[in-house]
This record gives sequence, C-alpha cells and structure tokens, in this order.
Amino acid sequence: MVRQSATRRESGGLGVTTHTNDYVPHAAGYVDNEGPKIVTSRFTDRDSHTLERFEATGGYRSIRSVIAGSPADAAQLVKDAVLLGRGGAGFPAGVKWGFMPPVWPRYLVVNGDESEPGTYKDRLLMEQDPHQLIEGCLITCYALGLNMCFLYVRGEMALAQERIATALNEAYEAGYIGQNIFGTDVGIDIVLHWGAGAYIVGEETALIESLEGNRGMPRLKPPFFPAAKGLYMKPTIVNNVETLSNLPWLFQHGSAAYKQYGSEKSPGSRMLAISGHVNRPGVYEVEQGVVTFRELFYGDNYCQGIRDGNDLKMFIPGGGSAPWFFEDQLDLKIEAADVGAAGSMLGSGAIVVMDETTDAVKACLRVVRFFARESCGKCTPCREGTTWEEQILQRIYDGHGRPEDIDLLLDVGSQISPGPYPVAGWESEGMTPVAFPPKQTTICPLGPSSVAPITSAIRRFRSEFEAKIPDPDDSNSDSTNAEVGS
Ligand SMILES: Cc1cc2nc3c(=O)[nH]c(=O)nc-3n(C[C@H](O)[C@H](O)[C@H](O)COP(=O)(O)O)c2cc1C
Ligand code: SF4
Repeated sequence: MVRQSATRRESGGLGVTTHTNDYVPHAAGYVDNEGPKIVTSRFTDRDSHTLERFEATGGYRSIRSVIAGSPADAAQLVKDAVLLGRGGAGFPAGVKWGFMPPVWPRYLVVNGDESEPGTYKDRLLMEQDPHQLIEGCLITCYALGLNMCFLYVRGEMALAQERIATALNEAYEAGYIGQNIFGTDVGIDIVLHWGAGAYIVGEETALIESLEGNRGMPRLKPPFFPAAKGLYMKPTIVNNVETLSNLPWLFQHGSAAYKQYGSEKSPGSRMLAISGHVNRPGVYEVEQGVVTFRELFYGDNYCQGIRDGNDLKMFIPGGGSAPWFFEDQLDLKIEAADVGAAGSMLGSGAIVVMDETTDAVKACLRVVRFFARESCGKCTPCREGTTWEEQILQRIYDGHGRPEDIDLLLDVGSQISPGPYPVAGWESEGMTPVAFPPKQTTICPLGPSSVAPITSAIRRFRSEFEAKIPDPDDSNSDSTNAEVGS
C-alpha cells in the first residue's frame, strides 16, 4: 500500500511499480570492502532489489522461523544481540521494544527520512535491498504483537520509493504481507508513506505528526515518549531503516554469531557514509568499535587517504549535528561510546572529511545555514537563534564582521544550549569532559546541533575568524570574500 503526505510534491506517482535498474548505476556510492556483510551482502548483485535475488540468498527464511516461535522469544533475541539503533541516538532496540505498554492497537514506524548532512546509507539500503527491510519490519511486527507498520520514506528519494513500492507489491502477491502470511493466522500490513522532504521530520515525534497529516513539528518529550503514546496516541516503536535491516541476518545466524562482530559495547557492523576530501568516499559497512578513523581515512581497504596528499584539517564524525574532530582523534575506534566520551557523537554514521585547504569559517557557515533553514520554528531559541547565527557568520565570511561577533556567536549558542558544550580534545585543553548530548532550551536537538560547528570552529580556528574581521580603526582594511558556493 502506498500513500503520500507531500505538500511540496507537484505530481502524483502513487503506486509506481517500475523497475529502474537499467538507468541507475548499481549501488552508486557503495564501496565493497573486507568488512562484515550483515546488511550489504547483496549490494554487489545487480538485481539485489528483486524478490528473486532475495529469496535465492536466504530471504524470508528468518521470518518463517520467527513465526514458528513465540513473539517473546523473538524480542528476547534482539535484546540479547544488543542491537543498537542506527538512527542517531544508538539506543538498544530490544530495550526500546520493552517500553511498550500492553495497549492495542500499536504501531511500528520505520524512519526512512534520512536528511542529516552527509548521511546517505539508509537510501542505499532502501534502493538496493528493500526486501531485507521489509523482512525486518515483519519480524519486528511479529515480535511486538502488532499488525500495522508504516514505512516513512523521504520524498526526494524517488528510486527508493519505487523499489520499496515494487517490493511491497511483490511481497503482498507472494503472501508474505497481508492476511494469513506464510499460511499462518498472522496478519501484517505495511504502508509506504512518502514524506515531503524535511530534515526535522526525521525526529521521531515530528515524523509521527507528519504521518498523522499534521505539520512536521516535534512534540515535547517528556511527558510522552512514542513507545507509550505515539502515532494516534497509541504505543509506537520508531526504528531506523538500518536498525531493522539487521534483523534478517540476525535471526538467520543468531545473536552469538552477531556478537562475534564488533566490540562488546557495540556489537555487529555499522554503515558509514564518508564524504569530503578523501580519495575514495562512499558507504562502507565496517565492524563497530574495531576500525579507527585513521584506518578508515588512510587504509587501502577504505578511503585510501586525503585528496592530493593534503593534510587533514578536521572531520565531522557523525553528521552535521556532531562537534568536529581533528588529527588528535584519528586513533579513536569508531564506536558510539568512545566517540561520545571524546566530546562528539557517531550519530547517523555520516563522516565528513575536510583537508587543510578548507576555510573553517565557510565550513561552519554551510552547516549552520542548513540548520537555520531546517528549523521548524516551533521554539524561539532555535527559530531566532539559528537565524542570528547564520547572519553573523555570513557577515564575518563576507568581510563585514565586527570584532565582538565571535563572542556574540558563542553567546547566541549558549542561549540555545546553555552551559559547557561538548568539544573534542577536552583532555588536552585541561577541561572537564562534557559528553553528548548537550543541554538545551529547545523542544528537540536541532537547535543545539547548530551550536556544534560554531563551538568547534571557534575553539580551534579562532584566528581564521579574526583574520576575516576588518580592523575598525583601519579604514583600508578589506577582508571581503566571494559568496559561499557549493
Ligand atoms: C533533528 C533530528 C533528525 C533526525 N533524523 C533522523 C533520520 O533521518 N533518520 C533516523 O532514523 N533517525 C533520525 N533521528 C532520530 C530519531 O528521532 C529516532 O531516534 C530514530 O529514528 C530511532 O531509531 P533507532 O532507535 O533505530 O535508531 C533524528 C533526530 C533528530 C533530533
Ligand atoms: S529545536 Fe528547532 S527544530 Fe526542534 S522543535 Fe524547536 S524550533 Fe523546531
């Protein structure tokens, strides 16, 4: 079943079922490497998105065996595996599932909004292996004793929409979704819902609002979290696309096999989307907590070094919301807990690498501008504060900044996110560690996200900001820059 909530979309397109394999390069952006293949095992097959390929490679076997057992056993296996959510917060899926009160109807909502700057791994999962995601949804529905799942996919992801629509039709036709699936008395429906293309709708309560047909603005939490009162005020689990895509493999091989990969704190693999100034950017599936950033950026098996042999200047370890890392953090293992303790976050697994030629002020402006434009406007510190931040940064970049602007930027940030902000390298700077997430005066973390690039850039590259600000006593001073480009 396909439906659309878009207000920005101009044409229809409901129920599109065309295979588009012929005109799109296969798995564009995916880089095959020696890491585990828990969610990307079919990515090198040209027909990875088809039911035929999925079934020939073990697809829909896990759900059959899950249905033969009890829902409680299925939920326990996910808990045992310590499957951490891949949407940003890294919360264990099995624990979250346990928060649902015994109230029906209840819902599963799959978060396929993926809009964090630098993130493009869920899109690949939806385009390349939609049946894997659908099987993950079916397993979750059965484990949670519910029969209605909504797959919310970002509006701009046309190929993902088409492939999921096709896969849903195939699975309905085969009797894997709908009433009496696999000949049992279990009934599960999955609805594909097209988003309108807004970053904030990736926040789970804004997504729920959007699904209900309202403007996509976050709800205040607490008092209610979606697991207790979510969609239509009924218990709702919101999980990320990658989180659920792990389930077919996990149930086929068991939690012990899953935990052989990764570290004790973060078992399994992680899809990392790397962009920026490396020689081989793309999406890599790597073991969590095993590979370091240095290995990832410089290893032959991964990104093969910084472009033109340049030095690294900084990198964002977990999407635009994350405080920046520098050379000193290169030997950290890529794992949520370690990255958090070092003053940033692994977030959505989007890593942006910037080399020595990068203008720190420009990079900061670009990220802040994104948050200013994507603020939903519901709370004043974010709506007004992000706009102020963008305007101040723009005038500094344009060469019209005032000497007090640097401190003003930090002050505006502290109105959105009071108190010390997590920064990388707190140890070497003799500071008390402040772990993610920061404090906030806002309803959701989007506002504080705009503070991360500002704090990072000013702490490390204050002199670059100062160099762009004309000396008020010098009438010949001109630090004018060109317009910020792409
Ligand atoms: C501003 C903002 C944007 C977010 N965008 C996404 C997103 O695009 N995809 C996603 O899965 N989670 C996103 N999240 C996190 C979700 O709110 C939620 O935690 C997640 O979908 C839960 O899934 P998981 O437990 O499987 O990680 C976002 C959070 C915030 C605050
Ligand atoms: S922090 Fe920003 S995006 Fe989040 S609810 Fe408030 S105004 Fe909206």
